[in-house]
Amino acid sequence: MDETAANAPSTGINFFQNTLENKNTSNDQTLRPLRFDDFTGQVKTLERLKIMVGAAKDRGDPLSHILFNGPPGLGKTTLALILGNEMDRTVRITSGPIIEKPGDLAGLLTSLEEGDLLFIDEIHRISKTVEEYLYSAMEDFRIDIMIDQGPNARSVRLNIPRFTLVGATTRMGMLTAPLRSRFTLQTRLDYYENQALQTIVARTCILLEIPADKNGTQEIARRARGTPRIANNLVLFIRDYAQQRGDGKINLNMAREGMELLEIDDNGLDEMDKRLMKTMADNYQGGPVGLNTLAVAVGEEEDTLAEVHEPFLIQEGYIQRTPQGRMLTSKGFRAIGLEGHDQDSHESQEHLGI
Ligand SMILES: Nc1ncnc2c1ncn2[C@@H]1O[C@H](COP(=O)(O)OP(=O)(O)OP(=O)(O)O)[C@@H](O)[C@H]1O
Ligand SMILES: [Mg+2]
Repeated sequence: MDETAANAPSTGINFFQNTLENKNTSNDQTLRPLRFDDFTGQVKTLERLKIMVGAAKDRGDPLSHILFNGPPGLGKTTLALILGNEMDRTVRITSGPIIEKPGDLAGLLTSLEEGDLLFIDEIHRISKTVEEYLYSAMEDFRIDIMIDQGPNARSVRLNIPRFTLVGATTRMGMLTAPLRSRFTLQTRLDYYENQALQTIVARTCILLEIPADKNGTQEIARRARGTPRIANNLVLFIRDYAQQRGDGKINLNMAREGMELLEIDDNGLDEMDKRLMKTMADNYQGGPVGLNTLAVAVGEEEDTLAEVHEPFLIQEGYIQRTPQGRMLTSKGFRAIGLEGHDQDSHESQEHLGI
């Protein structure tokens, strides 16, 4: 399968594409499931996708447009590539911020063949102008491009092959309603159940030929924040740890010691998670506090807090999002070794504004 972006020399898409995908090690390529059957977890999403792929293939039609939404590392890119494999079509990969001008989009779209998939990662970061061109491309498989300026300006209609747009976003809320509604399927990836993560960790150890016992892999899975990418990274680190401090085998002790060195606690909370919660407790009495204020206080990008840290902490009930800002729950206070106070009023706002 061709995973490179379209040939659009003026846009530098190939260059960015390469840096985007090649930042991953070859381990990543070994580990990425290639088929539905390799893919563990996300049962509902998988079933929806299988239905769509099966029906499209039966009819001989291109797949309808699909949007994946969910926190980083849960398998959005993986699923997009799997869709290409299952449909037996090429997947062209690009990313929202890379498509700067309508011409960039036109270059990408016209290089597609019927049935190809165009994967736009971080689709919420696409520019407003480009987004509007995407509407007619998705709906009518054509785009009207303006050429020239001033009195000579005219619009040229480009027909494009019937293609499938696969979008991925970590910030569904930042997607406009018109764009969202043009996807036939919008499906959310959730944090993985412990059982599924255990299977993923065990699979990783087998594929990379890492000696590991069940207690060791279970411990890693349990502390991986429900996220396959984190689970795989932990396996790689604990492998190194076991090699340097043990006999090279991942077992419970090695897993525990290695994760202690990484400052990953018993619940999988990392150093930034805890710094975030400590700041909320110490400086803001548990909140409410705005995300931008928190970002400055802990020295992290607001986007990173919103996309990486907050979703897990909210899902696990450590913090809540309220109209007034973020609040630490009593579980959050306990996680950082403090007793919560004034918790009744906190909990009563639980369902507001989430
Ligand atoms: N269900 C799964 N089974 C096994 N491995 C998985 C699964 N889902 C994801 N992975 C692994 O986790 C890693 C991260 O997945 P992927 O790159 O698809 O995440 P993503 O949702 O696209 O993240 P981002 O938002 O950061 O782009 C990949 O290396 C992949 O091998
Ligand atoms: Mg991705």
